[in-house]
Amino acid sequence: MFAARRAFAGVAQSRAFSASARDLSKVTVLGAAGGIGQPLSLLLKLNPRVTELALYDIRGGPVLPGVAADISHINTKSKVTGYDPTPSGLASALKGAEIVLIPAGVPRKPGMTRDDLFNTNASIVRDLAKAAAESAPEANILVISNPVNSTVPIVAEIFKAKGVYNPKRLFGVTTLDVVRASRFVSEIKNSDPVDENITVIGGHSGVTIVPLFSQSSHPDLVGNAELLQRVQFGGDEVVKAKDGAGSATLSMAMAGARFAESLLKAAQGQKGVVEPTFVDSPLYKDEGIDFFASKVELGPNGVEKIMDVGKLDAQEQKLLDACKEDLKKNIKKGVVFVAENP
Ligand code: NAI
Repeated sequence: MFAARRAFAGVAQSRAFSASARDLSKVTVLGAAGGIGQPLSLLLKLNPRVTELALYDIRGGPVLPGVAADISHINTKSKVTGYDPTPSGLASALKGAEIVLIPAGVPRKPGMTRDDLFNTNASIVRDLAKAAAESAPEANILVISNPVNSTVPIVAEIFKAKGVYNPKRLFGVTTLDVVRASRFVSEIKNSDPVDENITVIGGHSGVTIVPLFSQSSHPDLVGNAELLQRVQFGGDEVVKAKDGAGSATLSMAMAGARFAESLLKAAQGQKGVVEPTFVDSPLYKDEGIDFFASKVELGPNGVEKIMDVGKLDAQEQKLLDACKEDLKKNIKKGVVFVAENP
């Protein structure tokens, strides 16, 4: 009896252990001292699913240590560590990470498109991807750095070259487009944005952003040119308002934290977690488009199921055609960059 009880206690203990081991979630932010990185790190610190928060930034000086010390005083359980801007600091920040968020890179200034950032950000993302492939090859990689349509393929090419590419673990964060769409619709309809579920497909820049109002509860919004313009070029409103001081940081931090939370929920066993995101997708591969954003069900292994785009209105179909044309070029640009600058 006693032995049985002990055996039972042992089972219970090991169950408790494996449950808590599974729930140990180290999240790493690369570019944590930046405009997005700081509020994103703050929001991740508030997330009880995060047990360890690793902050890294190339920026020397006191900014990153200051951010890490500051956030570490918040009274949630997770441990916060700021890492040195050295290769070994980067490797330690990455080791054991379940999620790596990458908002490292330069943001837009007025008059710039996301593609104008390519020259600078492509090499930043390439180098961080190399470090991640070496130190956290199994982590979920969440790319925020623009142009996402090209930086995601860059990460994929690096992981392929290192022999560790898992298409189910690579995500371009397009959540902000979805957040904006639901907010802008709620402003028109005087509704609560929580109830406005707008699917946005394609990519993450200009005409590659395709909202599907026909699939929402407001099909009458298809053809609303002003709304479409806001969803596709909402980032420009922020760039203009900041007048040279950067692009969206606070709303982007919220969107990045939401996506990380969705991944953690799914990793911890919650079913039916769906987020639109830019992933290695079978949907238009036969047209030479290897990455595409659509609704994706998340699971313990990252991508669980990639959903079809569903039925489109004729006007939306036209938008999708224009999107595909640009997207194909953007993706190719990333792939060619790695081939020429390995
Ligand atoms: P920022 O300039 O304020 O911050 C970027 C941070 O990255 C800086 O602290 C910088 O030191 C750091 N950094 C640069 N190179 C690095 C490296 N090799 N390793 C580690 N850290 C490095 O820029 P912000 O506003 O935070 O934007 C970051 C990126 O996010 C930009 O590329 C921007 O276009 C993009 N973005 C993406 C959005 C999306 O929806 N996916 C929305 C808004 C911005």
